[in-house]
Amino acid sequence: MKTSSPDFHGHVIHAPYRSNVNRALLFALPVVVLVGASLFSRSPFPVAQHIPIAAVPDAVAQRGRLVYDRYGCALCHGSEGKGGFANQNAETDGKVPGVTRVAEGYTASELKRLILTGKSVIGKASAAGPRPPYRMPGWQDRMTGQDAEDVVRYLMSLNPKSAGEKWR
Ligand code: HEC
Repeated sequence: MKTSSPDFHGHVIHAPYRSNVNRALLFALPVVVLVGASLFSRSPFPVAQHIPIAAVPDAVAQRGRLVYDRYGCALCHGSEGKGGFANQNAETDGKVPGVTRVAEGYTASELKRLILTGKSVIGKASAAGPRPPYRMPGWQDRMTGQDAEDVVRYLMSLNPKSAGEKWR
């Protein structure tokens, strides 16, 4: 059936709708121009990003952190010693242990010895299970005693208990 009524929708509703669209465009234009201008005026060089890294209590620990990073300790023990990397069937929760709490279980000289000699046998969570793929490498051929002592100081400083308000 053909209806002869006027196009009510087109005339009454569509017209105000169109003027709204026009007004919206009017407001959008300056925004588009500003965004465009800021994109064009951007420096071609990457802007230095401020990446927060935990403060360290003293210069020795600071050096130790560099040792930790340079020797790739973080590849296994995580950034800032937080650990959590998988080590299938390791008795330490199936992960490479974090090293933020070693100050509670070792003296500085025990830690130094452990780092220099490493640990080739990693305890298994399940005796019948596979050998955990990652072990603690010994660093004595690659690392000076001084590096080892510095990294020990860094690890000691990670202990949340010894981490006083003053440096966190
Ligand atoms: C290839 C992986 C790997 C790398 C790299 C590595 N470690 Fe380890 N580390 C381990 C594993 C696995 C253990 C757990 C040993 C165990 O089960 O007793 C461990 C244990 C330790 C422990 C004793 C933790 C504890 O709770 O008893 C310390 C401290 C440690 N590592 C320090 C370091 C430092 C410092 C570096 C860098 C110089 C380093 N590790 C690099 C795998 C690694």
